[in-house]
Amino acid sequence: MAIQRTFSIIKPDATERNLTGAVNAVIEKAGLRIIGQRRIQMTRAQAERFYDVHKERPFFGELVDFMTSGPVVVQVLEGENAVKAYRDVMGATNPADAEEGTIRKLYAKSIGENSVHGSDSEENAAIEIRQFFSEADIAG
Ligand code: CMP
Repeated sequence: MAIQRTFSIIKPDATERNLTGAVNAVIEKAGLRIIGQRRIQMTRAQAERFYDVHKERPFFGELVDFMTSGPVVVQVLEGENAVKAYRDVMGATNPADAEEGTIRKLYAKSIGENSVHGSDSEENAAIEIRQFFSEADIAG
């Protein structure tokens, strides 16, 4: 199986409740390694660029407001099939649909305040990682 990297964000609803360590414990238990991690306050420009693909959606403004409402933790995760492995352990976007034991079932508050983001493809993972990390800040 292929070792991949994926990009993760622990969102403001989770940092606000001091859940960074709890989320990281689920990530590590799933066999993923946190090989890069930074706590930042996202600017509106960063959030708008990151979510550009959603800019025509009715919730875009709300999404940017939320992602800039408090600190986030941006991460690079590595492991076997990391993109899918992380999406599996995150659970469904809407916590009401998420499986038991997933991060969103355990911690998410709503479809908007859903605690974590994970890349949806290896190609997007590379783009998203580049937006927040230089290679010097990643150690696998
Ligand atoms: P994420 O994986 O970060 O990518 C896009 C985000 O949009 C998604 O997680 C949700 O948090 C958010 N989102 C999706 N649907 C809605 C919605 N109906 N209302 C508010 N936010 C949403």
